[in-house]
Amino acid sequence: MSEHAEATTRRDFLYVGTAAAGAVAVGGAVWPLVNQMNPSADVQALSSIPVDVSGVEPGTQLTVLFLGKPVFVRRRTPEEIEEARAVALSDLKDQNSQNPNAPDGGESAPATDQNRALDENGEWLVMQGVCTHLGCVPLGDGAGDFNGWFCPCHGSHYDTAGRIRRGPAPTNLAVPVAEFVSDTVIQLG
Ligand code: FES
Repeated sequence: MSEHAEATTRRDFLYVGTAAAGAVAVGGAVWPLVNQMNPSADVQALSSIPVDVSGVEPGTQLTVLFLGKPVFVRRRTPEEIEEARAVALSDLKDQNSQNPNAPDGGESAPATDQNRALDENGEWLVMQGVCTHLGCVPLGDGAGDFNGWFCPCHGSHYDTAGRIRRGPAPTNLAVPVAEFVSDTVIQLG
């Protein structure tokens, strides 16, 4: 394993580990309360969460658990944005944005980088950290042949916009409903 790959794996582990540990601690703390609530209140409480991104530096990502799945919140570097925006749509395996926040609810919005990113400048990319092949969690921080994410389960490569570029995954990494509700907080759901 190269030095970079080792560092990438370690970082991913740390972020996922931290998020999971946080989720476990919180889960343990709120379970007795949630357990007494009716199902609709329970679902409502979990269907939307705020994520503080004030500590996320360019070139790093935060992994949070949302609705039982990892969600990557990446703050991209200018190089990552430029690389994603230089890709021709015709080079993409999945040409749909897979983004419900995109124009027309993402139904037919093309998979341009602009339609994938959360903000106009493209600095923030929020995606489900679930490979669209069989559901493994891809490695990030510039992993794979397209400097984005790589799924080691069966070798799917995603680019810096989370679009599938090589391997068995059929579609781009899905974008969850998300929006900035302040300068430093993203609301998921
Ligand atoms: S689950 Fe990711 S490539 Fe198969």
